[in-house]
Amino acid sequence: MNLTIFSTRPYDREFLERARLAADPGGTHYHFTYLDAGLDLNTAATAAGAQAVCAFVNDRLDAPVLERLHQLGVRLVVLRCAGFNQVDLAAAARLGLQVGRVPEYSPHAVAEHTVALLLTLNRKIHRAHARVREGNFALDGLLGFDLHGRTVGVVGTGKIGECFARILGPGFGCRLLGLDPQPNPACEAMGMRYVASLAELLAASDVVSLHCPLTPQTKHLIDAAAMAGMKRGAVLLNTSRGAVVDAGAAIAALKTGQLGGLGLDVYEEEGSLFFRDLSAEALQDDVFARLLTFPNVLITGHQGFFTADALSAIADTTMANLQSFERTGRPLHPVP
Ligand code: NAI
Repeated sequence: MNLTIFSTRPYDREFLERARLAADPGGTHYHFTYLDAGLDLNTAATAAGAQAVCAFVNDRLDAPVLERLHQLGVRLVVLRCAGFNQVDLAAAARLGLQVGRVPEYSPHAVAEHTVALLLTLNRKIHRAHARVREGNFALDGLLGFDLHGRTVGVVGTGKIGECFARILGPGFGCRLLGLDPQPNPACEAMGMRYVASLAELLAASDVVSLHCPLTPQTKHLIDAAAMAGMKRGAVLLNTSRGAVVDAGAAIAALKTGQLGGLGLDVYEEEGSLFFRDLSAEALQDDVFARLLTFPNVLITGHQGFFTADALSAIADTTMANLQSFERTGRPLHPVP
């Protein structure tokens, strides 16, 4: 079986090769072609001869790309991620293209990274580290607050939200508020109180963390009105999908001090930035550039998932999706 794999970096190849050789020790059945390039209408042709393609979060899987892949003979798309907002599922269904994903690789990886953003922002570790290296041991400007006893609002209490809540609630001693159309009994068991509306959660939380998927309902869920309804000086964390937060509105709220801190691992326009080294080029995104100027904004480039454990699980599940498709015509974890 031939698989063309888009948007790969050396670390992806290392873990996928390990999984491929575990499934096919002779190396005769699965033929993987690794590409640096992302998948879009210009690069889709490189999948010629493949029965399946493997794509990542910022690859483009809209109707024209899916149609092109289908014309080339591709019958399966396997995503190396949990989210599938980048796929036109109606077009895939119309074409009879199967889509598989990795529903869970390590919710701990993303939850722990979210906590790292929070602790770094609150205790200004990024600034303290730079100061100490310069021989500046002054504490002015580094004042934080105890997380113990503070209220943390979790929007989306699925697998990652639950892991995050466990660290902050039972771990740090925070009060937990939750918002989710499907409350999670494990979160209730750890003392989370579900609220009826986003407004109620925002008004009561010192820290708000977003762990919901990107859907038409959650696009710009945190917009100017939502930020105005937050506690003044509260910290907002987004490790879900960039477009859940209106970045322009966040800039306005940061300028007035309404938003006390912003920790992002995702950004609405990250497709033209993340996962590559652009350090020698002029930054073209003025909103992103403005965000970087705030001392109380911390941004990482979509690395929440980036642990050895998660990469290994992603590679194993990708192999399992391929094997299941060959046996049954369906990936093990189909979308939808
Ligand atoms: P999940 O499916 O286990 O949980 C998502 C939860 O959000 C569900 O309980 C769902 O009911 C809830 N939800 C849906 N719509 C909502 C709304 N309008 N308001 C509040 N809650 C809502 O997903 P999981 O695995 O916990 O992932 C959460 C998100 O994290 C993913 O959708 C993905 O976008 C993001 N993610 C980010 C990664 C990173 O590297 N930064 C890696 C993996 C996932």
